[in-house]
Amino acid sequence: MKNVAIAGATGAVGQELLAILEERNFPLKSLKLLASARSAGKKIKFKGEDITVQELRHDSFEGIDLVLSSAGGSISKEYMPSAVKAGAVVVDNTSYFRMNPEVPLVVPEINPQEIKKHKGIIANPNCSTIIMLLPLFPLYKAFGIERVHACTYQAASGAGATAMEELRLESAALATGKTFTRTVIPHQYAFNLFPHNSPYNDGSSARSSVHAPTGYCEEEWKMVAETHKIFGDNNLRVNATCVRVPILRAHSEALNIRFSKKASVAGIYDVLRTAPGVEILEDPSENRWPMPIDASGKDPVLAGRVRIDQSQDNTFDIWIVGDQIRKGAALNAIQIAELL
Ligand code: A2P
Repeated sequence: MKNVAIAGATGAVGQELLAILEERNFPLKSLKLLASARSAGKKIKFKGEDITVQELRHDSFEGIDLVLSSAGGSISKEYMPSAVKAGAVVVDNTSYFRMNPEVPLVVPEINPQEIKKHKGIIANPNCSTIIMLLPLFPLYKAFGIERVHACTYQAASGAGATAMEELRLESAALATGKTFTRTVIPHQYAFNLFPHNSPYNDGSSARSSVHAPTGYCEEEWKMVAETHKIFGDNNLRVNATCVRVPILRAHSEALNIRFSKKASVAGIYDVLRTAPGVEILEDPSENRWPMPIDASGKDPVLAGRVRIDQSQDNTFDIWIVGDQIRKGAALNAIQIAELL
Protein backbone atom coordinates (compact mmCIF):
# COMPACT_ATOMS: atom_id res chain seq x y z
CA MET A 1 0.00 0.00 0.00
CA LYS A 2 1.43 3.34 -1.05
CA ASN A 3 1.03 7.01 -0.23
CA VAL A 4 0.54 8.54 -3.66
CA ALA A 5 0.49 12.13 -4.88
CA ILE A 6 -0.68 13.34 -8.29
CA ALA A 7 0.96 16.57 -9.45
CA GLY A 8 -1.32 18.19 -12.04
CA ALA A 9 -4.38 16.39 -10.71
CA THR A 10 -6.84 18.83 -12.31
CA GLY A 11 -5.39 18.40 -15.82
CA ALA A 12 -6.43 16.05 -18.62
CA VAL A 13 -3.82 13.41 -17.72
CA GLY A 14 -4.30 14.00 -13.97
CA GLN A 15 -8.00 13.27 -14.24
CA GLU A 16 -7.31 10.08 -16.20
CA LEU A 17 -4.71 9.02 -13.61
CA LEU A 18 -7.45 9.26 -10.98
CA ALA A 19 -9.89 7.25 -13.10
CA ILE A 20 -7.32 4.51 -13.78
CA LEU A 21 -6.15 4.30 -10.13
CA GLU A 22 -9.79 3.71 -9.22
CA GLU A 23 -10.48 1.26 -12.07
CA ARG A 24 -7.39 -0.87 -11.42
CA ASN A 25 -7.82 -0.69 -7.66
CA PHE A 26 -4.24 0.49 -7.20
CA PRO A 27 -3.06 -0.34 -3.64
CA LEU A 28 -3.36 3.12 -2.05
CA LYS A 29 -2.77 4.04 1.56
CA SER A 30 -3.49 7.69 0.82
CA LEU A 31 -3.94 9.97 -2.19
CA LYS A 32 -2.86 13.60 -2.34
CA LEU A 33 -3.99 15.83 -5.20
CA LEU A 34 -1.71 18.70 -6.18
CA ALA A 35 -2.19 21.49 -8.74
CA SER A 36 -1.57 25.22 -9.05
CA ALA A 37 -2.70 27.77 -6.45
CA ARG A 38 -5.66 28.48 -8.78
CA SER A 39 -7.11 25.05 -7.98
CA ALA A 40 -6.27 24.87 -4.26
CA GLY A 41 -9.41 24.10 -2.27
CA LYS A 42 -11.26 22.56 -5.22
CA LYS A 43 -12.80 19.15 -4.45
CA ILE A 44 -12.34 16.11 -6.70
CA LYS A 45 -14.20 12.82 -6.19
CA PHE A 46 -12.21 9.61 -5.82
CA LYS A 47 -13.96 6.32 -4.96
CA GLY A 48 -17.03 8.32 -3.92
CA GLU A 49 -15.13 10.61 -1.55
CA ASP A 50 -14.15 14.24 -1.96
CA ILE A 51 -10.43 14.98 -1.92
CA THR A 52 -9.37 18.63 -1.60
CA VAL A 53 -6.78 19.80 -4.11
CA GLN A 54 -3.69 21.37 -2.54
CA GLU A 55 -1.20 23.79 -4.01
CA LEU A 56 1.94 22.06 -5.27
CA ARG A 57 4.91 23.20 -3.17
CA HIS A 58 8.40 21.99 -2.41
CA ASP A 59 7.19 20.60 0.92
CA SER A 60 4.21 18.72 -0.58
CA PHE A 61 5.96 15.33 -0.58
CA GLU A 62 6.47 14.55 3.12
CA GLY A 63 5.57 10.85 3.63
CA ILE A 64 4.77 10.30 -0.06
CA ASP A 65 6.03 7.05 -1.67
CA LEU A 66 5.03 7.68 -5.28
CA VAL A 67 4.42 10.84 -7.30
CA LEU A 68 2.61 10.72 -10.63
CA SER A 69 3.55 13.99 -12.25
CA SER A 70 1.80 15.62 -15.20
CA ALA A 71 1.83 19.36 -14.57
CA GLY A 72 4.26 20.29 -17.37
CA GLY A 73 8.02 20.17 -17.93
CA SER A 74 8.95 23.35 -16.08
CA ILE A 75 6.94 22.25 -13.04
CA SER A 76 8.62 18.83 -13.02
CA LYS A 77 12.02 20.49 -13.32
CA GLU A 78 11.26 22.73 -10.37
CA TYR A 79 9.45 20.36 -7.99
CA MET A 80 10.31 16.72 -8.71
CA PRO A 81 13.84 16.94 -7.24
CA SER A 82 12.12 17.91 -3.96
CA ALA A 83 9.91 14.81 -4.24
CA VAL A 84 12.98 12.60 -4.71
CA LYS A 85 14.73 14.33 -1.80
CA ALA A 86 11.70 13.53 0.37
CA GLY A 87 12.11 9.84 -0.52
CA ALA A 88 9.42 9.44 -3.16
CA VAL A 89 9.76 7.74 -6.55
CA VAL A 90 8.46 9.93 -9.38
CA VAL A 91 6.84 8.65 -12.57
CA ASP A 92 7.04 11.77 -14.70
CA ASN A 93 4.76 12.37 -17.67
CA THR A 94 6.55 15.43 -18.99
CA SER A 95 9.41 15.61 -21.46
CA TYR A 96 11.79 17.22 -18.97
CA PHE A 97 13.73 14.13 -17.76
CA ARG A 98 13.16 11.78 -20.70
CA MET A 99 16.52 12.04 -22.42
CA ASN A 100 18.53 12.29 -19.19
CA PRO A 101 20.84 9.24 -19.30
CA GLU A 102 20.28 8.70 -15.54
CA VAL A 103 16.51 8.40 -16.02
CA PRO A 104 14.86 5.24 -17.41
CA LEU A 105 12.33 5.91 -20.19
CA VAL A 106 9.86 3.07 -20.04
CA VAL A 107 7.04 1.43 -21.97
CA PRO A 108 6.22 -1.60 -19.78
CA GLU A 109 5.43 -3.85 -22.75
CA ILE A 110 8.88 -3.08 -24.24
CA ASN A 111 11.62 -2.34 -21.70
CA PRO A 112 10.27 -3.05 -18.17
CA GLN A 113 13.77 -4.14 -17.09
CA GLU A 114 14.90 -0.48 -17.20
CA ILE A 115 12.69 0.41 -14.22
CA LYS A 116 15.16 -1.22 -11.80
CA LYS A 117 17.85 1.30 -12.77
CA HIS A 118 15.94 4.32 -11.51
CA LYS A 119 17.47 6.83 -9.12
CA GLY A 120 14.18 8.32 -8.02
CA ILE A 121 12.69 9.33 -11.38
CA ILE A 122 11.24 7.23 -14.19
CA ALA A 123 10.08 9.03 -17.32
CA ASN A 124 6.94 8.25 -19.26
CA PRO A 125 7.57 8.66 -23.01
CA ASN A 126 5.88 11.07 -25.39
CA CYS A 127 2.33 10.01 -26.30
CA SER A 128 2.91 9.68 -30.07
CA THR A 129 6.04 7.64 -29.35
CA ILE A 130 4.28 5.19 -26.98
CA ILE A 131 1.44 4.68 -29.46
CA MET A 132 3.87 4.04 -32.34
CA LEU A 133 6.12 1.71 -30.37
CA LEU A 134 3.51 -0.77 -29.10
CA PRO A 135 2.99 -2.27 -32.58
CA LEU A 136 6.49 -1.38 -33.80
CA PHE A 137 8.51 -3.22 -31.14
CA PRO A 138 7.24 -6.76 -31.85
CA LEU A 139 7.65 -6.09 -35.59
CA TYR A 140 11.22 -4.90 -34.94
CA LYS A 141 11.88 -8.14 -33.04
CA ALA A 142 10.33 -10.32 -35.75
CA PHE A 143 11.65 -8.71 -38.94
CA GLY A 144 14.23 -6.06 -38.01
CA ILE A 145 13.54 -2.50 -39.18
CA GLU A 146 15.62 -0.58 -41.70
CA ARG A 147 13.58 2.59 -41.51
CA VAL A 148 10.24 3.82 -40.23
CA HIS A 149 8.40 7.00 -41.10
CA ALA A 150 5.39 8.10 -39.06
CA CYS A 151 2.80 10.71 -40.02
CA THR A 152 0.73 11.64 -37.00
CA TYR A 153 -2.80 13.00 -36.69
CA GLN A 154 -2.76 14.29 -33.12
CA ALA A 155 -5.67 15.17 -30.86
CA ALA A 156 -6.17 18.27 -28.73
CA SER A 157 -5.66 16.30 -25.51
CA GLY A 158 -1.90 16.39 -26.10
CA ALA A 159 -2.06 20.13 -25.40
CA GLY A 160 -4.06 19.59 -22.19
CA ALA A 161 -7.55 20.01 -20.82
CA THR A 162 -7.72 23.71 -21.72
CA ALA A 163 -6.94 22.91 -25.37
CA MET A 164 -9.69 20.28 -25.46
CA GLU A 165 -12.15 22.80 -24.04
CA GLU A 166 -11.03 25.43 -26.54
CA LEU A 167 -11.57 22.99 -29.43
CA ARG A 168 -15.11 22.28 -28.16
CA LEU A 169 -15.94 25.97 -27.79
CA GLU A 170 -14.32 26.99 -31.09
CA SER A 171 -16.15 24.20 -32.97
CA ALA A 172 -19.49 25.28 -31.51
CA ALA A 173 -18.80 28.95 -32.28
CA LEU A 174 -17.65 28.45 -35.87
CA ALA A 175 -20.44 25.95 -36.60
CA THR A 176 -22.98 28.61 -35.71
CA GLY A 177 -21.26 31.45 -37.56
CA LYS A 178 -19.90 33.17 -34.44
CA THR A 179 -16.42 34.59 -34.08
CA PHE A 180 -14.07 33.02 -31.55
CA THR A 181 -11.01 34.34 -29.74
CA ARG A 182 -8.38 31.69 -29.08
CA THR A 183 -6.24 31.77 -25.93
CA VAL A 184 -4.63 28.29 -25.87
CA ILE A 185 -4.03 26.97 -29.40
CA PRO A 186 -2.14 29.32 -31.74
CA HIS A 187 -4.12 28.66 -34.94
CA GLN A 188 -7.72 27.99 -35.95
CA TYR A 189 -8.20 24.40 -34.79
CA ALA A 190 -11.86 23.64 -35.48
CA PHE A 191 -12.38 22.53 -39.12
CA ASN A 192 -8.64 22.91 -39.74
CA LEU A 193 -5.30 21.20 -39.07
CA PHE A 194 -1.71 22.36 -38.75
CA PRO A 195 1.83 20.97 -38.40
CA HIS A 196 2.55 20.43 -34.70
CA ASN A 197 3.04 23.68 -32.79
CA SER A 198 5.86 22.47 -30.51
CA PRO A 199 9.02 24.62 -30.85
CA TYR A 200 10.38 24.49 -34.40
CA ASN A 201 14.11 24.70 -35.05
CA ASP A 202 14.57 27.20 -37.89
CA GLY A 203 18.33 26.86 -37.73
CA SER A 204 18.89 30.35 -36.40
CA SER A 205 17.96 29.90 -32.76
CA ALA A 206 19.74 27.90 -30.12
CA ARG A 207 18.88 24.23 -30.25
CA SER A 208 15.78 23.25 -28.33
CA SER A 209 15.79 21.20 -25.14
CA VAL A 210 15.31 18.02 -27.17
CA HIS A 211 18.00 19.05 -29.71
CA ALA A 212 15.75 18.80 -32.74
CA PRO A 213 17.73 19.31 -35.97
CA THR A 214 16.94 22.25 -38.23
CA GLY A 215 13.54 21.85 -39.87
CA TYR A 216 12.05 19.62 -37.17
CA CYS A 217 9.64 20.55 -34.42
CA GLU A 218 10.30 19.09 -30.96
CA GLU A 219 7.40 16.64 -31.16
CA GLU A 220 8.89 15.08 -34.31
CA TRP A 221 12.33 14.78 -32.78
CA LYS A 222 10.95 13.26 -29.57
CA MET A 223 9.60 10.38 -31.66
CA VAL A 224 13.09 9.78 -33.08
CA ALA A 225 15.21 10.24 -29.95
CA GLU A 226 12.85 8.46 -27.55
CA THR A 227 12.51 5.46 -29.89
CA HIS A 228 16.30 5.12 -29.90
CA LYS A 229 16.42 5.24 -26.11
CA ILE A 230 13.53 2.82 -25.51
CA PHE A 231 14.73 0.26 -28.10
CA GLY A 232 18.36 0.78 -27.03
CA ASP A 233 19.22 1.17 -30.73
CA ASN A 234 20.61 4.51 -31.89
CA ASN A 235 21.08 3.23 -35.44
CA LEU A 236 17.39 2.68 -36.13
CA ARG A 237 16.31 5.12 -38.82
CA VAL A 238 13.17 6.91 -37.65
CA ASN A 239 11.46 9.96 -39.09
CA ALA A 240 8.18 11.71 -38.31
CA THR A 241 5.85 14.45 -39.49
CA CYS A 242 3.53 15.54 -36.67
CA VAL A 243 0.21 17.25 -37.30
CA ARG A 244 -2.55 18.40 -34.97
CA VAL A 245 -6.05 17.53 -36.12
CA PRO A 246 -9.34 18.68 -34.54
CA ILE A 247 -9.96 15.49 -32.57
CA LEU A 248 -10.47 15.49 -28.81
CA ARG A 249 -8.39 12.67 -27.40
CA ALA A 250 -6.98 9.88 -29.61
CA HIS A 251 -3.93 10.12 -31.87
CA SER A 252 -3.80 8.35 -35.24
CA GLU A 253 -0.57 7.49 -37.05
CA ALA A 254 0.28 6.25 -40.53
CA LEU A 255 3.44 4.15 -40.23
CA ASN A 256 5.58 3.32 -43.27
CA ILE A 257 8.08 0.62 -42.35
CA ARG A 258 10.91 -0.92 -44.33
CA PHE A 259 11.96 -4.22 -42.79
CA SER A 260 15.38 -5.88 -42.85
CA LYS A 261 14.14 -9.47 -43.10
CA LYS A 262 11.55 -10.47 -45.72
CA ALA A 263 8.09 -9.58 -44.35
CA SER A 264 4.56 -10.15 -45.64
CA VAL A 265 1.12 -8.72 -44.92
CA ALA A 266 0.05 -12.04 -43.35
CA GLY A 267 3.25 -12.21 -41.27
CA ILE A 268 2.72 -8.66 -39.99
CA TYR A 269 -0.87 -9.43 -39.00
CA ASP A 270 0.36 -12.55 -37.18
CA VAL A 271 2.79 -10.46 -35.14
CA LEU A 272 0.25 -7.72 -34.41
CA ARG A 273 -2.39 -10.23 -33.31
CA THR A 274 -0.24 -11.31 -30.36
CA ALA A 275 1.46 -7.94 -29.67
CA PRO A 276 0.90 -6.87 -26.03
CA GLY A 277 -1.32 -3.80 -25.82
CA VAL A 278 -2.32 -3.96 -29.50
CA GLU A 279 -5.64 -4.99 -30.99
CA ILE A 280 -6.57 -5.35 -34.65
CA LEU A 281 -9.80 -3.60 -35.53
CA GLU A 282 -10.96 -3.59 -39.13
CA ASP A 283 -13.53 -4.86 -41.58
CA PRO A 284 -12.06 -4.40 -45.06
CA SER A 285 -15.33 -5.43 -46.75
CA GLU A 286 -16.97 -2.39 -45.12
CA ASN A 287 -13.94 -0.11 -45.59
CA ARG A 288 -13.79 0.02 -41.79
CA TRP A 289 -10.48 0.81 -40.08
CA PRO A 290 -9.48 2.06 -36.61
CA MET A 291 -10.77 5.55 -35.84
CA PRO A 292 -10.16 7.94 -32.92
CA ILE A 293 -13.69 7.33 -31.63
CA ASP A 294 -12.90 3.60 -31.43
CA ALA A 295 -9.79 4.18 -29.32
CA SER A 296 -11.06 6.99 -27.05
CA GLY A 297 -11.26 5.85 -23.44
CA LYS A 298 -9.78 2.43 -24.31
CA ASP A 299 -6.46 0.84 -23.33
CA PRO A 300 -5.19 -0.91 -26.49
CA VAL A 301 -3.60 0.69 -29.53
CA LEU A 302 -5.81 -0.28 -32.46
CA ALA A 303 -4.10 -1.39 -35.67
CA GLY A 304 -5.22 -2.26 -39.17
CA ARG A 305 -4.95 -1.55 -42.88
CA VAL A 306 -1.64 -3.37 -43.30
CA ARG A 307 -0.64 -3.13 -46.95
CA ILE A 308 2.39 -3.40 -49.21
CA ASP A 309 4.03 -0.10 -50.14
CA GLN A 310 4.45 -0.64 -53.88
CA SER A 311 7.10 2.08 -54.17
CA GLN A 312 9.97 0.19 -52.55
CA ASP A 313 11.13 -3.26 -51.49
CA ASN A 314 9.97 -4.98 -48.33
CA THR A 315 8.06 -1.89 -47.13
CA PHE A 316 4.60 -1.83 -45.58
CA ASP A 317 2.03 0.69 -44.37
CA ILE A 318 0.11 0.27 -41.11
CA TRP A 319 -2.61 2.49 -39.66
CA ILE A 320 -2.77 2.78 -35.87
CA VAL A 321 -4.88 4.72 -33.35
CA GLY A 322 -4.37 5.06 -29.59
CA ASP A 323 -5.88 7.09 -26.78
CA GLN A 324 -3.38 9.86 -26.06
CA ILE A 325 -4.54 10.41 -22.48
CA ARG A 326 -4.70 6.70 -21.60
CA LYS A 327 -1.93 4.54 -23.08
CA GLY A 328 -0.21 7.67 -24.38
CA ALA A 329 0.11 9.02 -20.83
CA ALA A 330 -1.85 8.00 -17.72
CA LEU A 331 -2.17 4.25 -18.27
CA ASN A 332 1.51 3.86 -19.18
CA ALA A 333 2.47 5.77 -16.01
CA ILE A 334 0.29 3.58 -13.80
CA GLN A 335 1.59 0.40 -15.43
CA ILE A 336 5.10 1.62 -14.53
CA ALA A 337 3.93 2.31 -10.96
CA GLU A 338 2.42 -1.19 -10.74
CA LEU A 339 5.73 -2.74 -11.83
CA LEU A 340 7.54 -0.62 -9.24
P1 A2P B 1 -4.41 23.99 -12.60
O1 A2P B 1 -5.66 23.29 -13.07
O2 A2P B 1 -4.51 24.46 -11.20
O3 A2P B 1 -3.91 25.02 -13.58
P2 A2P B 1 -3.24 20.08 -18.64
O4 A2P B 1 -2.03 19.36 -19.16
O5 A2P B 1 -4.50 19.36 -18.87
O6 A2P B 1 -3.27 21.51 -19.12
O7 A2P B 1 -3.06 20.15 -17.05
C1 A2P B 1 -1.99 20.80 -16.44
C2 A2P B 1 -1.97 20.50 -14.95
O8 A2P B 1 -0.83 21.12 -14.38
C3 A2P B 1 -3.17 21.05 -14.21
O9 A2P B 1 -3.51 20.19 -13.15
C4 A2P B 1 -2.64 22.36 -13.68
O10 A2P B 1 -3.29 22.84 -12.52
C5 A2P B 1 -1.23 21.96 -13.30
N1 A2P B 1 -0.37 23.14 -13.20
C6 A2P B 1 -0.17 24.11 -14.10
N2 A2P B 1 0.65 25.06 -13.60
C7 A2P B 1 0.99 24.66 -12.36
C8 A2P B 1 1.81 25.21 -11.32
N3 A2P B 1 2.45 26.35 -11.48
N4 A2P B 1 1.91 24.50 -10.17
C9 A2P B 1 1.26 23.36 -9.99
N5 A2P B 1 0.47 22.78 -10.93
C10 A2P B 1 0.33 23.43 -12.10
